[in-house]
Amino acid sequence: MNSLVNNYICASLGFMNTQEAKQKILELREELEAHNHRYYVEDNPTISDFEFDKLLRELQDLEAEFPEFDDPNSPTRRVGGEITKNFQTVPHKYPMLSLSNTYSKEELEDYLKRIAKLVPEEMEFVCELKYDGAAIGITYKNGMLEKAVTRGDGTQGDDITTNVKTISSVPLRLRGSDYPEEFEIRGEIFMLLEGFNKLNQERVEAGLEAFANPRNTASGTLKMQDSSIVAERPLDSFLYYVLSEENIADNHYESMMRAREWGFKVPPPEKKYIARATNLDGIFEFINYWEEHRHLLPFEIDGVVVKVNLYQQQQRLGSTAKSPRWAIAYKYKAEQVSTLLKSISYQVGRTGAITPVANLKPVLLAGTTVKRASLHNADQIEKLDLRIGDHVFVEKGGEIIPKVIGVDMEKRPMGLEPVEYIRFCPECSTPLQRAEGEAQHYCPNDSGCPPQIKGRIQHFISRKAMDIEGMGGETVELFVNEGLVKNPADLYALKKEQLLPLERLAEKSAQNIIDGIEASKQIPFQRVLFALGIRYVGETVAKKLARHFENIDRLAVATLEELVAVDEIGERIANSVLSFFADEEHRDLVERLRAYGLQMEVEQQTDGSQALAGMTIVISGSFENYSRTEIKDLIEKHGGKNTGSVSGNTNLIVAGEGMGPSKRKKAEDLGVRIIDENEFAELIKG
Ligand code: IVH
Repeated sequence: MNSLVNNYICASLGFMNTQEAKQKILELREELEAHNHRYYVEDNPTISDFEFDKLLRELQDLEAEFPEFDDPNSPTRRVGGEITKNFQTVPHKYPMLSLSNTYSKEELEDYLKRIAKLVPEEMEFVCELKYDGAAIGITYKNGMLEKAVTRGDGTQGDDITTNVKTISSVPLRLRGSDYPEEFEIRGEIFMLLEGFNKLNQERVEAGLEAFANPRNTASGTLKMQDSSIVAERPLDSFLYYVLSEENIADNHYESMMRAREWGFKVPPPEKKYIARATNLDGIFEFINYWEEHRHLLPFEIDGVVVKVNLYQQQQRLGSTAKSPRWAIAYKYKAEQVSTLLKSISYQVGRTGAITPVANLKPVLLAGTTVKRASLHNADQIEKLDLRIGDHVFVEKGGEIIPKVIGVDMEKRPMGLEPVEYIRFCPECSTPLQRAEGEAQHYCPNDSGCPPQIKGRIQHFISRKAMDIEGMGGETVELFVNEGLVKNPADLYALKKEQLLPLERLAEKSAQNIIDGIEASKQIPFQRVLFALGIRYVGETVAKKLARHFENIDRLAVATLEELVAVDEIGERIANSVLSFFADEEHRDLVERLRAYGLQMEVEQQTDGSQALAGMTIVISGSFENYSRTEIKDLIEKHGGKNTGSVSGNTNLIVAGEGMGPSKRKKAEDLGVRIIDENEFAELIKG
């Protein structure tokens, strides 16, 4: 791939002067934006992810080379990186109102009659989905995204521009030219269900608490300080209202379609996400259609919004202090069924957390048969006053597992006893513990409780951790049951001869496993740290800790104060790290893993020569034998620091074809040494 990228850059960069570079940067931005739009807005990509990344990288390289053409709305900014400590509160130019709700056909009919008194002539209505996320108001000036603000209290909200810019379906720059010079567009940011479920699965695997629902997760994500985490979360948008002093169209529907042409993700009529209607029946056709089909949508909705289409009529209807009279929400009741609670079972996770699960008489709900439902913890069971033999109401939200939300008291037979929560681990009979202020019970027998042992090893070998090829849940089960492994370090002592007698393990599979285990010794430290399965230390936290402390020894002796000083690390995580390393068994585990050759420090010192230690190096132009990214990586690997522009701090410039004359002059004026790629290769060799 590198030579491909390299050729491409060489071919396109050639002897590029400033003017050509500017032209190329603009072209690449436009091209990348068009692909972004096709992928995220139209859902119709025309190039592969690989090709997209290649173009993006080319733009990144050029932008680093020519920082004078920096643009806060460049597609390269989508990956985030900016940290916002405190979001600024800013006033809304137009108040952000909410909607009044209706729950039945009668209520909706009453509403239509009420407004017909104020607007006696014919009215057309626009029906839309009511997306269940967080409201956002985005201001564009001269076609550029300028500011994105949360609803807040309706008169002022938080400026979350840096985070919103990472959401790929929100355009940073508009298409065409016939948009108003300045306008605000409002809409909803929400999380896609598939991504939400995947995120939760990863969190549970990392021993973190699952997020409750996609809506809270979306609004929580939008308020995160680190925009690069926001960029990784599956957020999407639909825009639903344009506010502009300039006239765009005389009605809402047309404005939406205009906004679509400017590149916004507005509900597509062809998917029936938006439709016009002229009366109650037409509106109800839309409502009924989505009541039946809403479970097929890739995101959650909690109803439908009906809007008067003509702006002139909207104005005549006006607003109350809280909501406009020209729009109303029709809310769906969450789909519920009542069924028999047969029993409660208790699952033990890899961190020892106990999760109670309701076993139900199978029942059809929102298109699937439900047999089990989550009960969360002991408090929840007590709050619901659950008893075995009760009929319970079960509801399905965006989560895979439905929830028990209440008891049908009318159906409760006489003589049922309240559920007594278990006091001993269902797997190893150890007395359970529950920490002050925590909802969850835990089994403290982490070294002897089978699901904890298996869970920890499974987590250790998983793809995002040590990624041991050839192994899976079944092999872990087998190895633990056969007494071959009790903890992750035991894997590294395995011999092929021990595996061969095992059921279902052919010579080739056994060899694959041994090879996979051997190869995992090269996995970088941050993933080893994640693989250790410290409670609350997920992938991102592991990355942050690894970067900050650089090796396991410094992390193991870090104090609470030192831990919480790390970005995004709070007391809960810090305490978990402290108690992990306070445990002798864990320290032994780390020592054994180290002895087997696993990476216990961040990479840079591992095979670099340190020939560039302490040097600040600028790279310029394009190269024959390396891509720019390769040179950057090499600089870091050998202890140097790569920066974008030449300054008094620059020690060295690695120059390739097409180094800009202004840069060369500046370097010469400052007396900075300029070397070519061959000299660079010599330098790091020596
Ligand atoms: S129009 C003046 N349209 O529902 C009110 N709102 O309960 C303009 N919402 O805060 C809102 N989907 O966040 C509108 N298609 C849609 C919507 C929608 C979701 C949210 C919005 C608003 C809340 C009101």
